[in-house]
Amino acid sequence: MTILVTGGAGYIGSHMVLALRDAGEDVVVLDNLSTGVKSVIPEGVPLYVGDTGNETLTASILKWHKVDTIIHFAASVVVPDSVSNPLGYYKNNTSNTRSLLASAVATGVENFIFSSTAAVYGDVDMKPVSEDSPLRPMSPYGTSKLMTETMLADVAYAHGLHTVVLRYFNVAGADPQGRTGQSTPGATHLIKVAAETVVGKRPYMQIYGTDYPTPDGTCVRDYIHVTDLVAAHSCALNHLRDGGANTTVNCGYGRGYSVLEVIDAVKRAAGTDFEARLTGRRPGDPPSIVAGVDRIHETFSWQPRYGNLDTIVAHALAWERHLREKSS
Ligand code: UFG
Repeated sequence: MTILVTGGAGYIGSHMVLALRDAGEDVVVLDNLSTGVKSVIPEGVPLYVGDTGNETLTASILKWHKVDTIIHFAASVVVPDSVSNPLGYYKNNTSNTRSLLASAVATGVENFIFSSTAAVYGDVDMKPVSEDSPLRPMSPYGTSKLMTETMLADVAYAHGLHTVVLRYFNVAGADPQGRTGQSTPGATHLIKVAAETVVGKRPYMQIYGTDYPTPDGTCVRDYIHVTDLVAAHSCALNHLRDGGANTTVNCGYGRGYSVLEVIDAVKRAAGTDFEARLTGRRPGDPPSIVAGVDRIHETFSWQPRYGNLDTIVAHALAWERHLREKSS
C-alpha cells in the first residue's frame, strides 16, 4: 500500500517524504509547486503537479497507486496573508480539502493524517493549552483549519475514515543531514527570516510588537524542530495502523520562547550581530501560545530529539547558508 503526501515538495512535506523513504514506505507526492520545490523530492518518488482541489486528478492518483493513507500538508500557512486574503485561505485550506476527502471516500482510503495548527486556539488563557481548550481562532488561517477539522470529524464518523489531526505549533529548523529545509521564497516565519538576515538576504528584520502582555513584551511561541514534527506523523501512522482511535494531538515541546529570545539565539548561533527593528503589532498574532503535551506523550511513543532552541536555530542557519551558496 502507498502513502500519498500532499504538499510533499514543501517545507514540512519534503522532510516527511524523506522519513517515509528512509523507513522503506511507498510514497507518492501531489504538489502544485506554488511554494514547493521539485528538486527536494528524492529520485524514484512519483510527483504529480496539481491541486488537491482537482478531484479527477486525486481520485486517479489514489486508485492508480492503491493509496491507503493520505498525509495532507498542502495548504496556505501565513497568518497575515490570511487576514488580507481570507477567500484564498478558505479555498485552498478548506474547500480543496473537501475535494480531497471526497476522492478519499470514493476510493476507499483508510487513514488520513491532517496538518492542523495551534492557530485554531487563538488567544487562550490556558498556558500551556490542551487539545480540549476552547477554539477561538484569531485569523482566517486558523478558522480555515478549524473548519477542516470539523469537516474531517464528520467525514470520519459518516464513512469510517481513520484520522489523526496534528496541531502544529511553530515549526522551524531543517533536516539534520542537510538534505532539505525551508526553501519557500518570501518566507515570513521568524527563525527563517532571522536566518535570511544572517546570510545577507535581507538588510535587517523586524520585530512585530513589543507591548504584548508577556515577560519582555514580544510574542511567545513553542518552536518545534521539523524533524521531531515529522516523527510525530510517523507515530500517528503507526497509531492508525495499530487500530488506534481517531484523535487530535498538539505538536510542540511545552515551552515557549519570546521573539527577542529567538533572535538572541540566532545571533549566538551565527556568531554575528544583525539589525532587528522594533515595529508595531502584526494582525492576527496571539500574544502567547505554548503546547500542552500530555496527550502526545500518552498517545504516541514520541521521542523528540532536537528540542533545544540552539539546535533548531543551528539547523535552520545551516540550511540557509546552503541555499545562499547554491544561489551565488
Ligand atoms: N515575527 C517577527 N518578525 C518576523 C516574523 C515573525 O517579529 O519577521 C513574530 C510574529 O509577529 C510572531 C512570532 O514572531 O509573534 C512568530 O511568527 P511566525 O510568523 O514565525 O509564526 P506564527 O506564530 O505567526 O504562525 C506559525 C505558523 C502557524 C501556526 C502558528 C502556531 O505559521 O501555522 O505558528 O503558533 F499555527
